[in-house]
Amino acid sequence: MIVRPYRDGDDENIYRLARLAFGGPREPNPETLWSNQRGWHGVVAEDANKLVGALKVRDYRQFFGGRAVPMGGVASVAVDPHARGHGVATALIDAALPAMRERGQVISALYPSVPPLYRARGWEQTGDYQRAKLRPELFALLPKPATRLVLQRATKDDLPAIHATYLQFASTVDGMLDRSTDSFTLTGLLEVDVVEFAAGPDGSVRGYLTADRPEGERLVTYDLVALDAETALGLLANLGRWTGIMTEISLRIVDPAWWQLLMPLPVLHDVVNHPWMLRVVDLPAAIAARGWPAAAYLSSFTVDLEVVDGHAPWHAGRHRLVVDGGKVTCEPGGSGAVRMSARALGPWFAGSADTAMLRRAGLLEALPVDAHLLDLLTGAPHPARMADSF
Ligand SMILES: CC(C)(COP(=O)(O)OP(=O)(O)OC[C@H]1O[C@@H](n2cnc3c(N)ncnc32)[C@H](O)[C@@H]1OP(=O)(O)O)[C@@H](O)C(=O)NCCC(=O)NCCS
Repeated sequence: MIVRPYRDGDDENIYRLARLAFGGPREPNPETLWSNQRGWHGVVAEDANKLVGALKVRDYRQFFGGRAVPMGGVASVAVDPHARGHGVATALIDAALPAMRERGQVISALYPSVPPLYRARGWEQTGDYQRAKLRPELFALLPKPATRLVLQRATKDDLPAIHATYLQFASTVDGMLDRSTDSFTLTGLLEVDVVEFAAGPDGSVRGYLTADRPEGERLVTYDLVALDAETALGLLANLGRWTGIMTEISLRIVDPAWWQLLMPLPVLHDVVNHPWMLRVVDLPAAIAARGWPAAAYLSSFTVDLEVVDGHAPWHAGRHRLVVDGGKVTCEPGGSGAVRMSARALGPWFAGSADTAMLRRAGLLEALPVDAHLLDLLTGAPHPARMADSF
């Protein structure tokens, strides 16, 4: 078997694999062919000149500590049914890792259907992508905003302001994508049925909602972004106005603020979670790319790390984390006092797991003082959230 980069002409064979793995029509929708998409790189596996596996990495950036960190989003991993169980997917992942590093994708996220496959290569469960199914009547229990929110239907001209509002919100939630790479186009937002927004007095966008209205009695929401509580209450109240026709609002949980602090949630409700995994591809570069808001309030200190990572040898070994003058850097050397496995790096970097959790899971060994400093830096533990699946 050989693993090589994607090349023109692979589309048809990749579609065959993808259809067998994930379903879809026999004849592909041209938009789904890799060559018709932007912002990705890919690898394929061949056996006896036949394509038996494929893996795509999307170009994304993911917010951590308020800065958008270049991230490779691993997607569309598929192996021909007859060739499964012989390490093809593992070989594709092994080829994708250095390719991400070369492209400056210092971290990598993915939505696993098979977590053990990715765990074995250093990814670990880190964050949530959640949806709730709610009756529209529930929204009538919300307090009414002081003034009735005036909403407008968005056009192409409104998209930059809507995106600016999204970024203002997303940069405050660890794990959200910045949707500013080639993998996204602003106009993609207008492809759904409902795009409504509230404008502030200065013409800026205070909040917006996007949703689809499929056949049946269900509304499927995507973004619900609001910069203040009044706007959030107004957008949520407008969802309540689907009462009468709809029996279900499928609510994508985007902002923990309105989901946790404004929604009148019943005692029992169903939330479907699609967890995602994170891997640090290049530790020094990832540390340089992330924001470290807590560092500005901490006095100078160092923590010595020993990274155990057999699949990313470029960052395996000893590093010294230096916190000084509000900046955090990662230099080679040190005593290796804190031992971290590759799988510890993603949840630590994201702040989704604290060192006590990582230690109990057998992923980290540290003295209490070092562990405390590592937690202070990331503010762990706190949830990480993504609103885009891939
Ligand atoms: C999942 C898939 C890509 C695995 O391909 P593969 O070439 O058989 O994987 P590998 O041989 O490299 O598997 C390595 C390890 O991953 C784990 N693994 C692989 N498939 C698994 C599955 N379906 N369930 C649980 N663990 C699995 C096992 O630990 C396996 O090691 P083992 O064979 O020694 O037990 C393939 O079954 C497939 O195409 N499935 C349908 C599409 C899909 O689910 N893609 C993943 C999207 S995230």
